[in-house]
Amino acid sequence: MSKSIVVTGATGHLGRLIIERLIARGTAPGDIVAAGRNAERLAAVARLGVATAVIDFASPASLNSAFAGADTLMLVSGSEVGQRTQQHANAISAAARNGITLIVYTSAPHADTSALILAPEHKATEQALRDSDIPWTILRNNWYTENYLNSMTGAAASGTYVDSTRGGLVASASRTDFADAAAVVLTTAGHENTTYELGGDHAWDGPELAAAMAQVLGTPVAYSTLTPEQHTAALAATGLDTGTVGFVVALDGNIHDGLLSETTGDLARLIGRPTTPLSVGLRAGR
Ligand SMILES: NC(=O)c1ccc[n+]([C@@H]2O[C@H](COP(=O)([O-])OP(=O)(O)OC[C@H]3O[C@@H](n4cnc5c(N)ncnc54)[C@H](OP(=O)(O)O)[C@@H]3O)[C@@H](O)[C@H]2O)c1
Repeated sequence: MSKSIVVTGATGHLGRLIIERLIARGTAPGDIVAAGRNAERLAAVARLGVATAVIDFASPASLNSAFAGADTLMLVSGSEVGQRTQQHANAISAAARNGITLIVYTSAPHADTSALILAPEHKATEQALRDSDIPWTILRNNWYTENYLNSMTGAAASGTYVDSTRGGLVASASRTDFADAAAVVLTTAGHENTTYELGGDHAWDGPELAAAMAQVLGTPVAYSTLTPEQHTAALAATGLDTGTVGFVVALDGNIHDGLLSETTGDLARLIGRPTTPLSVGLRAGR
């Protein structure tokens, strides 16, 4: 049986959804290789009828054997921030060794020029793709609406949502929307060497997010936006470690600076429908 599409991150949220959307679009499960690091979670994905391969981006041998015989690599970016440039380079090299003819990669908005704190590893991976001889498609995914589910749980308990975005806008969409877009790109022609800036149709602000949380929770959610210094102190007081506090405050600063605010319409165009509205995405993710 031919195995044509390898999907990394198959044990994670997005990778699994991409596999489900591929099957929904008519790709035979036997033509999909679900690649993930955790063997137990991979066994659960195997129930979809797909082949599986245990990989570690740090192990070229594991990538080599997972990619053997495949045509296309859906490279869902890894989650080990700080190690991903090398890890993704390992995946691209293994793809080249195995004659893969298309790599689709999940990146971040304007990764090549953005000051977003998560952009540098994506920028380096995009460059590695351009430097390879393999055709590529770059999906620059904006924020997942699901990123706010934990905050919504916190807001349910405290009645308040606090950030330091200070008027910044976020064009988030649901993971399902991004997975649909990936499945479209993987199963239709004409996406080679193309970069898509993907995000929600509507960019919302903090008050709108708090209102959507209130709507989903059925209880009032007050909103306040703080200075970065105040936010740092408030998060530290909850017992969060310094690294996480710095990360959250820096990301809110990026949002304040407008780095996640763009609405290009690319995502809706690719998936052929409007993106999932904020409150609908929050409700579905609960
Ligand atoms: N746009 C956004 O808002 C946003 C938010 C968060 C993350 N992201 C990015 O988008 C990716 C997909 O999102 P998600 O929500 O599906 O993340 P997720 O649920 O955390 O899944 C991450 C996946 O990466 C795999 N992985 C991590 N390190 C690996 C390694 N060394 N070797 C092989 N596989 C490895 C994990 O495998 P195991 O589970 O088997 O270890 C898992 O399948 C993330 O990894 C991250 O790069 C984007």
